[in-house]
Amino acid sequence: MIQLHNLSRTYREGQCKREALRSVSLTVARGEVVALLGRSGSGKSTLLNLIGGIDLPSTGEVIIDSQVLNRMSEYERTLFRRRRVGFIYQFFNLIPTLTVLENVQLPLELNFLDVERADQLLDKVGLTDYRDTYPDRLSGGEQQRVAIARALVHEPTVLLADEPTGNLDAESGRLVLGLLGDLVRVQGTTLVVVTHSRKVAELADRIFVLDDGRLTDRIDEVIW
Ligand SMILES: Nc1ncnc2c1ncn2[C@@H]1O[C@H](COP(=O)(O)OP(=O)(O)OP(=O)(O)O)[C@@H](O)[C@H]1O
Ligand SMILES: [Mg+2]
Repeated sequence: MIQLHNLSRTYREGQCKREALRSVSLTVARGEVVALLGRSGSGKSTLLNLIGGIDLPSTGEVIIDSQVLNRMSEYERTLFRRRRVGFIYQFFNLIPTLTVLENVQLPLELNFLDVERADQLLDKVGLTDYRDTYPDRLSGGEQQRVAIARALVHEPTVLLADEPTGNLDAESGRLVLGLLGDLVRVQGTTLVVVTHSRKVAELADRIFVLDDGRLTDRIDEVIW
């Protein structure tokens, strides 16, 4: 489902060069759950952005569902992302001027799909009673559940989550995590999740560590 070949990503600022990713190669099967660990600045978000087609590699190839993202035009990539990718951010990123229901309907509308599914997803994450509420009235855990519903409502083939429980207390974190695991398994979605949490990592089929832009499987060196 996901094939990364020799990815590198170098940021340039004036004379300064920062190699955020170095020769990253990885293959993830359909329906697999992969956890990505690593200290701050190790390149985790950079890698998610490349997989999601938000950003392009400096060298290397990103192939998702047999499509080579780095050979697409920007427009093609936007369409691809809209249809195939779900993204869950650490800080939820809900649209404040839309209600809970409207937030979850948005990916459906953008893809010309039936908006009916939004209600089903809200029901699954236990937020039907909040459908007409605005996001700023919700707790962190509730907002993250809306974000999960929004990320999965259009049945993306790839779900990318950047520290989805990073801003939640232990109890909300557990709830969000259980829900994410269930939904991903039911839909057969391929999930790459960035995390600092052992609990989240335990959800994964495989765990990788980014160390200064290089991908390794040395989890024994991780400080939790
Ligand atoms: N837009 C950018 N311009 C310049 N440098 C960047 C940019 N985005 C990231 N970087 C640099 O690339 C490196 C990797 O950043 P990245 O955001 O991928 O780290 P991360 O592992 O997600 O860290 P965190 O756990 O703190 O979120 C860092 O050194 C960062 O400063
Ligand atoms: Mg990050």
